[in-house]
Amino acid sequence: MVLKSKDILGLKDMTAEEIEHILNNAKTMKYILQANNKKTPHLTGKSIITLFYENSTRTRLSFELASKYMSASAANISASSSSVSKGETLIDTGRTIDAMGSDVIIIRHPMSGAPHLLAKNVKASVINAGDGMNEHPTQALLDMFTIIEKKGSLKGLKIAIIGDIFHSRVARSNIWGMTKLGAEVSVAGPSTLIPKGIEKTGVKVFNTIQEALIDADVVMGLRIQLERQKKGLFPTVREYSKFFGLDDKRLLFAKEDALVMHPGPVNRGVELTSAVVDGKQSLIDEQVTNGVAVRMALLYLLTRRGSSENTY
Ligand code: CP
Repeated sequence: MVLKSKDILGLKDMTAEEIEHILNNAKTMKYILQANNKKTPHLTGKSIITLFYENSTRTRLSFELASKYMSASAANISASSSSVSKGETLIDTGRTIDAMGSDVIIIRHPMSGAPHLLAKNVKASVINAGDGMNEHPTQALLDMFTIIEKKGSLKGLKIAIIGDIFHSRVARSNIWGMTKLGAEVSVAGPSTLIPKGIEKTGVKVFNTIQEALIDADVVMGLRIQLERQKKGLFPTVREYSKFFGLDDKRLLFAKEDALVMHPGPVNRGVELTSAVVDGKQSLIDEQVTNGVAVRMALLYLLTRRGSSENTY
């Protein structure tokens, strides 16, 4: 199977088959990651650029490690240290990177749609590493991969996503992806942080965390994104935590073997208590590990488009 597009811009426009194809390839990449020698020749001669206009630890580092494990030439540009700070446009920056023969550009940008604009203007494949409040497709792919590793499938699973749904590109990508693979997704958070009409995407909306957690197989907390919020969407962080924070007592509403997830970075004691973050149901570290495997699979599949063999 061949991915339809040269770019990975979001899960909204991806088919269930494409998502499953990526996740199947990531399984093989996970075996490579667990080997003593992680180095593979799959991206020899390819050049991968990370172009980040916002901070990142997990996404940027995992793409850089994925590129290096697969023998690509990898380089990073951050907006503050590039000619962006001299007024260069995104399209001109993209064309400059393209002109150096780059195969894949991975972009994180505060504006929704920036990766789509870049993709239209460069020959390289573009991967969206998070655009504003729109999508974070590689995070959702690694989240789905992690759930499938534990539960076998997403079909019929009850997944509760808790918190700042309105500003969350992670929530949006997960809702598109998880519902396509057959999960029942519910969301809960302060009513000011639930987007109007979100039910149309096939999710259930609850006003309390307790209702959303009942019989959940997976509970995903989201970071409170103070940097994207106007003041007044909820009274205080303390009150947010009082009503929507996940602690051991609230976790009892979910199934006994429910998985606890969070894309990171976690505000300990706000979205999740430290006991939950470090508890036996938490998959937060495994999500990070799987992020490398999923990003290896994406780089592999995108750089092999057009060649006769597209599956590892
Ligand atoms: N989950 C996530 O995108 O983390 P970073 O901001 O550290 O990349």
